[in-house]
Amino acid sequence: MRIPVVLAEAPLVSGREGVAAVRERQRAALVEAGRRAGAPALAELPRDADGAPVPFADGWRWTAANTRGAAVGAVARAPLGVDVESLTRPRVPAPGEFAGVDELIHAPIHAPIDRATDRAGDRAINRAGDDADRWTTERTLALWCAKEAVLKLTGVGIAELRACRLTGAPLWTGGEASLLIEHRGVTRAVRIATASGFVVALAADADAHAPGPAVELDLHVLARAEARR
Ligand SMILES: CC(C)(COP(=O)(O)OP(=O)(O)OC[C@H]1O[C@@H](n2cnc3c(N)ncnc32)[C@H](O)[C@@H]1OP(=O)(O)O)[C@@H](O)C(=O)NCCC(=O)NCCS
Repeated sequence: MRIPVVLAEAPLVSGREGVAAVRERQRAALVEAGRRAGAPALAELPRDADGAPVPFADGWRWTAANTRGAAVGAVARAPLGVDVESLTRPRVPAPGEFAGVDELIHAPIHAPIDRATDRAGDRAINRAGDDADRWTTERTLALWCAKEAVLKLTGVGIAELRACRLTGAPLWTGGEASLLIEHRGVTRAVRIATASGFVVALAADADAHAPGPAVELDLHVLARAEARR
């Protein structure tokens, strides 16, 4: 199941004007994501009383996130959640503040590492824990975003951040990764992609209408200039 996720770049404006601009870009990201997914037009963004997205038109769902400089949106006929953080303006705490030692021991693995032959490398990785060389800014943001994406998929708040647990070593290939996150007894492979200086995460459950069990993140960037045309 390949899910289009749209990252819309937003102007770096502070104050009320900045908030309005990023909200407008979030809406543009959602409209484009819906179009790419083949969803019915997303005229309104239906929400529950707490502001969480609710399904629209025959089980289609939407999810969105924003940060300074960008917004993301995705639409699918399956429960899903997205998150975005800026690599140049990271606003997340150190990994040890939102993840346990048992999670951080699963330090990210660079591809290509041949796990069958590189046993010494494998041991070094598992010994590394929260070594700063391994939990770089990009990877820390990925872990944070992966957890937030799962929390949005399940519709629960940030209070359960520590109840979302990384259960395996993320494999990184270029700017992409897959992080196994367990929450409330369900383990999902959360997809990570990086583009335009932002880290984006997508968590989704299987879609009964789409073939294949694996979730893939199909990232599209809506540049600011594109929006003005
Ligand atoms: C959901 C949550 C993790 C989002 O984190 P954030 O970093 O503040 O903001 P993001 O940009 O990543 O995401 C915001 C979007 O998440 C979505 N969202 C909000 N609450 C959500 C929920 N419970 N489930 C799923 N999605 C939610 C909304 O679409 C929102 O954007 P919008 O209002 O512009 O449409 C966080 O706001 C949260 O915990 N909300 C739950 C409500 C809550 O616990 N409030 C605290 C009460 S003390």
